[in-house]
Amino acid sequence: MKLAFIGDMVGKPARDMVKKHLKTIRNDYKLDYVIANYENASHGFGLTRKNCDELLSYGIDMMTGGNHSFDKKDILDMFDDYPLIRPINYPQDTVGEGTYVTSLFGKDVAIVNLMGYYTMPMVDNPFIAIVNEIKRLKAQNIKHIIIDFHAEATSEKNILFAMLKSEVSAIFGTHTHIGTDDLVIDEGCCYVTDVGLSGCRDGIIGMDKKVPISKMLTSMGGHFDIPKECKSILQMIIFDLDDDGKCINAFKLKTYSDRVKVITEALRE
Ligand SMILES: [Fe+2]
Repeated sequence: MKLAFIGDMVGKPARDMVKKHLKTIRNDYKLDYVIANYENASHGFGLTRKNCDELLSYGIDMMTGGNHSFDKKDILDMFDDYPLIRPINYPQDTVGEGTYVTSLFGKDVAIVNLMGYYTMPMVDNPFIAIVNEIKRLKAQNIKHIIIDFHAEATSEKNILFAMLKSEVSAIFGTHTHIGTDDLVIDEGCCYVTDVGLSGCRDGIIGMDKKVPISKMLTSMGGHFDIPKECKSILQMIIFDLDDDGKCINAFKLKTYSDRVKVITEALRE
């Protein structure tokens, strides 16, 4: 099975890139399933019902969240009706689920959303939470396990990879919005510390430059905004899983608004 994972989609520029390119990419690479992170999809903060409908109609199959999952209140009523999850290690009574299981070619495929510690909201220990969840999934004979680890610290993401690479199909880092160049397949696990944002590539982590710069110069706050116009990018990892849930092929595809696409193959350890 061939899947794709799109990292943080930041605002309308991301939605526009997904709208413009995803159906062609699905067709060109014969993708069976597309996962994407929704937490910044509606003007940088959260996800509205309207934007969710829109993104699913462009060829995304399910979406993961993070620390901004609950920024738009629409989502409180959406988990039952839409293929959406939020980090599994939110406190027990938090709305929504942290794992989504779908069926592809007769195999159960689990997508698990997890959130890190450093600079994040107060959540349960992500490392204990994911070990317990993998145990639960394996008890159901689920071998295809894909994790979106939404975390700020590169070290936390490296630790998770070292802990789990023989256990899961893929670990994709999200949240920093800056893509890292360490895409690798090791022990059948596809890993990258951060996939990188989709949206404006010439702002500051997808946002207009003005407020972040003035915040650094003055320590005054301000509301981050999505630029009206920008150079944009759509970034995704495309990966193949075998019948045992092992990753056998992976590459990163970067599609730009104004130049030719770039493909980077994963290192194979
Ligand atoms: Fe985030």
